[in-house]
Amino acid sequence: MKSYSLLLSLMILAGTAQAAPFAGGNFAHGKALHDKDCAGCHASRYGGDGSIMYTRQDHMIKNPSSLAQRIDTCNANLGNKLFPEDEADIGAYLNQTYYKFR
Ligand code: HEC
Repeated sequence: MKSYSLLLSLMILAGTAQAAPFAGGNFAHGKALHDKDCAGCHASRYGGDGSIMYTRQDHMIKNPSSLAQRIDTCNANLGNKLFPEDEADIGAYLNQTYYKFR
């Protein structure tokens, strides 16, 4: 019984850790890439620094996987050669700053 509940707590802890989206992403690197490659086009459409793209009322992104997908789509449109790790870093930046998925 005792070991069962220990196992259960470990599973819950592991589950929580895994649930944090983009947990492995490097925030500072993601922000630098985003500001260099992404913000300009968003700003040209929405004005300001473009961040309203992420906070506008009808914004598209509702969960971590659609965020990851959109980063990839926008990146592909850009014709930029960002690596998957770079996209994860941008994900960490966007999620911690705007979307706050847990
Ligand atoms: C050439 C222009 C352009 C560039 C460059 C660009 N985007 Fe976008 N992005 C768009 C447009 C346009 C939309 C909105 C599409 C819509 O509303 O249907 C968008 C939407 C998004 C959204 C969804 C916002 C929301 O919640 O609705 C995210 C996230 C995003 N872009 C991330 C990025 C990232 C990360 C980069 C850099 C790797 C990037 N974009 C580069 C044009 C661009």
